[in-house]
Amino acid sequence: MKLEKDQIFNADCLSVLKKMPKNCVNLIVTSPPYADNRKSTYEGISVESYVKWFKPISKELLRVLKPKGSFVLNIKERVIDGERGTYVIELILEMRKQGWLWTEEYMWHKKNSYPGKWPNRFRDGWERCLHFTKEKGFNMYQDEVKVPTGDWASSRLKNLSKTDRIRDESKVKSGFGKKIENWIGRDTVYPDNVLHFATVCENKGHSATFPSELPEWFIKLFSKKGDIVLDPFLGSGTTAIVAKTLERHYVGMELNKTYYKLAKENISKFVPTKIKKRKVKGKEILSNERNIK
Ligand SMILES: C[S@@+](CC[C@H](N)C(=O)[O-])C[C@H]1O[C@@H](n2cnc3c(N)ncnc32)[C@H](O)[C@@H]1O
Repeated sequence: MKLEKDQIFNADCLSVLKKMPKNCVNLIVTSPPYADNRKSTYEGISVESYVKWFKPISKELLRVLKPKGSFVLNIKERVIDGERGTYVIELILEMRKQGWLWTEEYMWHKKNSYPGKWPNRFRDGWERCLHFTKEKGFNMYQDEVKVPTGDWASSRLKNLSKTDRIRDESKVKSGFGKKIENWIGRDTVYPDNVLHFATVCENKGHSATFPSELPEWFIKLFSKKGDIVLDPFLGSGTTAIVAKTLERHYVGMELNKTYYKLAKENISKFVPTKIKKRKVKGKEILSNERNIK
C-alpha cells in the first residue's frame, strides 16, 4: 500500500497498519480504548485481554515508525473492585520485549478532574502519556515547548543567595546543576514533564476526546512541519486536526463508522487559525503555558 498523506480510514487499525510500508511515519500520538471502559459507547476490551489485544498493534506501530520517531500513548488503568489495574504496566513490559524503549512518562494533569468522593481514594486527576521510541537518539524539538518564566522567576530572582550564584552541583553531582542566576533576563524556560490541560467538557459528539492541547504539545515537541503524524485510534479526529493546523500531515484509523464520519466532518471544517497562538515578548507560546512553581 502506498501511503497517502492526509488520509483517514474507517477500519480496524491493525488491518491498515499491516499494509503500510515500514519506517513511514514520524510520530504516533493516540489514546486507545481503555480496558473495559465505556462499553456502551464503543468496543471495550476486557482487562484480561488488553495486552494480548494491543501487542499486535504495537508491533506494527514499531514497524511503521521511522527510526528517530516517537510514539506517545495516552492511557490510564482504571479501578476494578477497589484496586488499580496493572495492565498498563504489563503492556509496557511487553512492549519493551518487542523492541520499544520506554523513554519517558509524561503526566497529563487534568485541571478539571471529575468531581466525586470515594471511601478509599480521591478524584482521579491525571493520566499517563507514555513516550516510547525506537532509538535513544530520537527527534526532539525542545525549544518548541518552552514556557514563559512567569511570576515565580521575578520573585525568586529578587534575592539571590551566594549558593544561587554558583553552579549548584554539590547535591546531585550529575553535571547538570542549576545556576539560578542564569534565569535572569529569561522570558521562557523548558517545561517539566507534567502537562496541565483541562479535559474536554463540551459535547464533541464523542465520549472520550482528548483536549487538542495534548496532541499539540507532543506534535510540536516530536515533529516538524511537513512530517507525518499517525493516530490509529482517531475518534473525533483531534490529532488529525491539530497536525494539519501545525502544518504536519496526518494518517488516522477509526473503527466506528459514526466516529469516522464525525472525524471526516471535523477535519473538513478545519480552520488553520483555530488554535490560539500568543506572543509573549516576541516569542510564540503554547496554549498550555504555565508558571514554574
Ligand atoms: C479514546 S477514543 C479516541 C478519542 C480521540 N483521541 C479524540 O480526541 O476524539 C478511542 C477510539 O478508538 C476507536 N477504536 C477502537 N478500536 C479500534 C480499532 N481496532 N481500530 C481503530 N479504531 C478503534 C474507538 O471507536 C474510539 O473512537
